[in-house]
Amino acid sequence: MVAAVKFWDRFADRYAARPIKDTRAYDAMLADAAGRLKPTDRVLEIGCGTGSIAIRLAPYAAAWTATDFSAAMLRIARAKPAPDNLRFVLADAEHAVDGGPFDTICAFQVLHLVDDLPDTLSRIRAQLKPGGLLIAKTWCFADMGLGLRALFLALRAFRLFPRANALTKAALRRTVAEAGFVIEVEHVFGNNPHGPYTVARNPGGAGRRTAAAGSVESRINGAPRSGENNVE
Ligand SMILES: C[S@@+](CC[C@H](N)C(=O)[O-])C[C@H]1O[C@@H](n2cnc3c(N)ncnc32)[C@H](O)[C@@H]1O
Repeated sequence: MVAAVKFWDRFADRYAARPIKDTRAYDAMLADAAGRLKPTDRVLEIGCGTGSIAIRLAPYAAAWTATDFSAAMLRIARAKPAPDNLRFVLADAEHAVDGGPFDTICAFQVLHLVDDLPDTLSRIRAQLKPGGLLIAKTWCFADMGLGLRALFLALRAFRLFPRANALTKAALRRTVAEAGFVIEVEHVFGNNPHGPYTVARNPGGAGRRTAAAGSVESRINGAPRSGENNVE
């Protein structure tokens, strides 16, 4: 964990300066996430990085707590203009933060980075209200071709890439389900098939929200709902 924090502290300025590669896909993903939030929602975000997503999505919720274990990332985040209902907190993904239980927990580009994914997912679920949602985008490196995997291993050897779990999409899906979530959506925004967007519900409540139109099974494996075709 200490090495990972050091990596992200060292990498923060470069991460902040990196342009979004596919802005249409990014915007479509954030629009989908925003559409799942309610104005009364209390949201926790883990691995918020430099706060870009928190700043975009906080206006759709009542309160947004954005956390990251990298002080350097949070320093950049806190320097940006932000909505009043957003607070940044230094915390790792494994530890509960004040303000819960939450209606929604967001984890964009971070679940592949945690040390123990099953444990982290259980802890995330424990911080969610019954019926609450986990919204995540996760890199599935083990599904990539050999060339790309070799490239990431080489970058890691030169400390230009962090340690990451070698997940497949199938393993991610299984691990999320084994943590007790019901997966409602798995979808790829844009052309890169290795970073699925997942929406999963913590069951147990009276069904505060209902599944989006279309059967869940039909949407897993990439069947988009209407309006998503423009980024495919
Ligand atoms: C790839 S960046 C993603 C940042 C942001 N979510 C985004 O999509 O732009 C990963 C972020 O997760 C943070 N991170 C990685 N592992 C973490 C952990 N175990 N607990 C908290 N934050 C973590 C890093 O510090 C970094 O800011």
